Amino acid sequence: MPSSLLRNTVFFLSLSVANIFAQSNNEAPVGRVECGFSGLSQWYEISTGIWETAGWWNGANILTTAGDAAIAQPHNARLQLLVRRTFANAVRKAPARNPDLGRETPKNETTESSKVARLGTSYSKYMDTETWQPRSSYPANWWRSNKTYASYDDTVLLVRDPQYDEATLLADFTPNPYDFLDGYYDDDLWWCLAWLTAYDLTKNRIYLQLAEGIFAAVASTWSTNCGSGGVYWNYNRTYVNAITNELFFSSAAHLANRADNATYYKNWAQDSLDWFMASGMLNAEGTINDGLDAATCKNNNGTVWSYNQGVILGGLVELHRAAPDDDYLLIALYIAKAALYALKDAKGVIHDPCEKTRSCGADGTQFKGIFMRNLAKLQKETGDWGLRCAITANADSIWTEAREGTVFGNNWAGPFEGPGNASVQGSAMDALVGAVRIR
Ligand SMILES: *[C@@H]1O[C@H](CO)[C@@H](O)[C@H](O)[C@H]1NC(C)=O
Ligand SMILES: *[C@@H]1O[C@H](CO)[C@@H](O)[C@H](O)[C@H]1NC(C)=O
Ligand SMILES: *[C@@H]1O[C@H](CO)[C@@H](O)[C@H](O)[C@H]1NC(C)=O
Ligand SMILES: *[C@@H]1O[C@H](CO)[C@@H](O)[C@H](O)[C@H]1NC(C)=O
Ligand SMILES: *[C@@H]1O[C@H](CO)[C@@H](O)[C@H](O)[C@H]1NC(C)=O
Ligand SMILES: *[C@@H]1O[C@H](CO)[C@@H](O)[C@H](O)[C@H]1NC(C)=O
Repeated sequence: MPSSLLRNTVFFLSLSVANIFAQSNNEAPVGRVECGFSGLSQWYEISTGIWETAGWWNGANILTTAGDAAIAQPHNARLQLLVRRTFANAVRKAPARNPDLGRETPKNETTESSKVARLGTSYSKYMDTETWQPRSSYPANWWRSNKTYASYDDTVLLVRDPQYDEATLLADFTPNPYDFLDGYYDDDLWWCLAWLTAYDLTKNRIYLQLAEGIFAAVASTWSTNCGSGGVYWNYNRTYVNAITNELFFSSAAHLANRADNATYYKNWAQDSLDWFMASGMLNAEGTINDGLDAATCKNNNGTVWSYNQGVILGGLVELHRAAPDDDYLLIALYIAKAALYALKDAKGVIHDPCEKTRSCGADGTQFKGIFMRNLAKLQKETGDWGLRCAITANADSIWTEAREGTVFGNNWAGPFEGPGNASVQGSAMDALVGAVRIR
């Protein structure tokens, strides 16, 4: 029948038109992420499994970015291979790069004074209490290049050389959680989240068990002098800050949806969230300050860093899955919108205050990407239009205003300020990956 043929043809045409549009909308974000990986590869160090020009926890954070990109593009065969091998190579090689290996190994938890002596000589993070800007200092030679090939692109080897085959690297291998701990509990938990992302991508249980081991080590430090709960920033047990407690909560909530002992982790997630919400770190504007005053346990009014508005969002999405209650998503949307209001410029591009003084350093350069990553997770869960618009605005601005070739800058409004480095690159990639995730 002609009419049904016509109907079918029109139906077919409208389908293909819809597909063409879907493709032109989808290809741009994917291509941007691939360019980002291409730029990032110049800093990849195959002998250590992490990136030169980025620090230790920062490597875990870039692994998470890479994992999110691969999870968002299950049919991108080259990306799947690259990222799976990147995780496998890191789990084998990165411990050699831990700047304070053995710090939290039970045998090494000795007297306070010996801990203090070691803190000064190896790895430490210092908190500037004027700006609440953390500053890492690494052991001598930590940044020294160990590249053994003249090539600038180690990822070519990673994807081609059979010695980096995922199954070969992981055969009969059981990672040791203590290999990833360095005495700073936030650093530890960045690694926990990285391995959970590896688990989501590969479903290989060694990553899940590694994440559980890292979480257990930090959970064993639970309870501070503030409100009989929470975790400290580090083993020096002085500062109670937002980032470490948000990471602890988010790790527990992730584990509640993945590990066998779901109830155990769900209880940790709910307890740590309750403690956090009562801690006073969430202020009257709906934004989260850096931490608590060590003497009074009151909000220290420290800088509202973008990453502290982000990590909690991903945790709330996970907890909502583990223990469905719309309040978790309502709190997350409230915090997300307050953060965008506080951090965005007239064009909707977000900024951290350290950009103005070009003082973001090795750590502060990653904060905005962490915010974007978690904002994308919340957008995907809620479908919120405002969040979608915010992620798109930032990704577009990075691409058009803050890029030189395949390398991105730290000020996402531009202009590009070089030289680039892996920390800045990974952070911008989080926004680009976010735009792919929310398609
Ligand atoms: C870098 O190379 C030096 C000299 O070969 C070696 O002693 C050191 O352990 C290496 N560092 C890493 C992290 O592989
Ligand atoms: C204790 O710490 C030292 C120095 O960081 C390290 O060499 C040693 O392997 C650690 N011991 C254990 C059991 O991890
Ligand atoms: C312990 O942490 C506090 C707060 O971050 C810092 O002021 C102090 O210098 C640290 N102590 C040592 C020995 O590192
Ligand atoms: C689950 O958590 C409880 C509480 O800590 C613990 O007693 C139990 O051994 C855990 N079970 C598994 C299978 O990990
Ligand atoms: C933070 O600011 C509030 C309001 O301005 C003030 O009452 C409080 O003392 C400040 N806290 C600290 C630790 O400075
Ligand atoms: C990376 O670049 C940023 C922005 O220019 C800079 O603040 C940071 O110190 C750089 N990182 C390293 C490790 O040099």
